[in-house]
Amino acid sequence: MHKVIYDTDPGVDDAMALLFLHHHAEIDLIGITTVFGNALIETTTRNALFLKREWKIDAPVARGAGETFIPHRVSHAPPTSIHGDDGLGNIGVPEQVDVPLDPRPAHRFIVEAIRANPGEVTLVAVGRMTNLANALKEDPEIVKLVKQVVIMGGAFHTSGNVTPAAEANIHGDPEAADMVFTASWPVVVVGLDVTMQTVMTRQALADIRDAAGSRAQLLFDLSQFYIKFYESRVPDGMVIHDSCAAVYVVAPELFTTRKGSIRVVCGGIADGMTVQKPEGRGFGPSDWDGLPSQTICTGIDAPAVLKIIHDTIVSVRED
Ligand code: BDR
Ligand code: CA
Repeated sequence: MHKVIYDTDPGVDDAMALLFLHHHAEIDLIGITTVFGNALIETTTRNALFLKREWKIDAPVARGAGETFIPHRVSHAPPTSIHGDDGLGNIGVPEQVDVPLDPRPAHRFIVEAIRANPGEVTLVAVGRMTNLANALKEDPEIVKLVKQVVIMGGAFHTSGNVTPAAEANIHGDPEAADMVFTASWPVVVVGLDVTMQTVMTRQALADIRDAAGSRAQLLFDLSQFYIKFYESRVPDGMVIHDSCAAVYVVAPELFTTRKGSIRVVCGGIADGMTVQKPEGRGFGPSDWDGLPSQTICTGIDAPAVLKIIHDTIVSVRED
């Protein structure tokens, strides 16, 4: 059983990954922590509470960072053309969702959950890395107590999606991501190199809805705006970035990987760019030397990943 804390900025693709984690038989979802990104922190937190209520998820929700790790860093407006003004595809999420929040800030929730379950917690982080960096700052010892950190973010051998250099989750808080990648805990990076290959078609999403009932009807509805955004970018469907990271936890064999230290460019025209120094390759002295070797995903069995998502979500039917 994998004990998972899901750090997220819901977000349409975040919502699908949440439903996957909630339904998967080998995952014990012990917490949901929110971060700003696809919308402001008030909105992503409200959305997490909304999805918790609608999908009857027991895990507590803790509200996280609403600004970058280094305060007042140049920040970017939420991508409303991708996820809608409400972050969930403009389905009309209520302003207030009457579900209590965990009293702790997200980073403290993360620290305390790791300390309560030494060696057992997997962090699945699919938004900006701000809460993870804040957790490391508060309690650096957690690096020895975490099982692994699986993140959606970055682009190594492909272009970014916010700038040619940078992917959104890293671009949104580069210093936080650099801290997460250079810390001595095991990190797996599921970036655009593999997520851009993983397209769920409209029909596949409709099949999930038909087989899974009302929970998946909500998923279907909130995804339509996002599908429209992807219309001109991928053939007939949507890229399911965050679900790829969630699937990695239970099926790492569906990914090919490469090890090496990772740095994030902080500032300048390549702000947020991720660069790995592959293990075993010779270079001159550089700022990649002597750092922990982390894992990046370089390939994916996309049909198999899509099948696991389908099978997991339809494994629980609700009318
Ligand atoms: C990432 O950015 C967000 O828009 C998505 O939810 C995903 O986590 C993709 O670059
Ligand atoms: Ca996300």
